[in-house]
Amino acid sequence: MIHAKNIHKFYDKLEVLKGVDLHIKKGEIVSIVGASGAGKTTLLQILGTLDTPERNSASSLSINGKNILRLQDIENDNSKEEKTFKIVTWSGVIYIIILVVYLLFFRTKILDETLRLVTLGVLFLPIVSMFVYYNRYFKKKSKQDKILSEFRNLNLGFIFQFHQLLPEFTALENVCIPAFMANKPKAQTEKEAKKILEYLGLSHRIHHKPSELSGGEQQRVAVARALINKPDVIFADEPSGNLDTHSAENLHQLFFKLRDEFGQTFVIVTHNEELANMADRKLVMVDGQISN
Ligand SMILES: Nc1ncnc2c1ncn2[C@@H]1O[C@H](COP(=O)(O)OP(=O)(O)OP(=O)(O)O)[C@@H](O)[C@H]1O
Ligand SMILES: [Mg+2]
Repeated sequence: MIHAKNIHKFYDKLEVLKGVDLHIKKGEIVSIVGASGAGKTTLLQILGTLDTPERNSASSLSINGKNILRLQDIENDNSKEEKTFKIVTWSGVIYIIILVVYLLFFRTKILDETLRLVTLGVLFLPIVSMFVYYNRYFKKKSKQDKILSEFRNLNLGFIFQFHQLLPEFTALENVCIPAFMANKPKAQTEKEAKKILEYLGLSHRIHHKPSELSGGEQQRVAVARALINKPDVIFADEPSGNLDTHSAENLHQLFFKLRDEFGQTFVIVTHNEELANMADRKLVMVDGQISN
């Protein structure tokens, strides 16, 4: 399901990932452990398509057969076009300012005649370019940006150490948001969200806001939110890092229940030894590499 090969990542000159290879099968629970700063979060963000690795001919990342690096390259292409669009537009604006200043303060008759022709010609260029780039950049961008964000929203779920629920929305609304973003119908989504929240033992708390829920409950709402679009894989970064022992144990059992009952795949970064050892496979990150 996930195939990552030779993944590198630099932050300035600091090489955080030094050629990571990783294969994860459907229905597997894989834990990633390692010292603070070893690069676990960085790797998870890259696998989750939230960050981009260095480009290198030997690197590849595919999730469910989708070539993630290619989708991200399309985004980068867009940023080149965005630059050109900005340059073209600003040249047009600067030219017009110079022209207005000239007409107000420095006009002479002979220059006027020449300028009229030049102006028509030169004004024409930025306007045509703006039109061309508008079509190429904005239209393509909105379509192609959507491909990656839609892919992420529909195929990947995320659980973080701090639940990151939206404080002004209820538990039920928080769970529904990713489905609404995927344009799923309201009634069906709410029914599904209630079903998941009930499954997670939260049916009595669905109309409460995050601040009215305990840490363990908030984290279960975050799990429900990660599940709403039935993702192929859930990425969790220290999901129980902020929970007491009892709530952490409950959350860990929940992951395994979801795997056993629904074949849910998990990649979990954790400092919790117990959770790490319960996983089907424990990967240890040492200094930007997975050690065997
Ligand atoms: N955006 C960033 N810019 C610069 N350096 C970064 C950035 N993000 C992470 N780093 C550095 O990269 C290294 C790896 O960070 P990462 O967050 O992946 O570690 P980690 O293994 O998740 O650690 P922890 O267990 O403490 O969460 C660290 O040295 C960190 O300081
Ligand atoms: Mg981390």
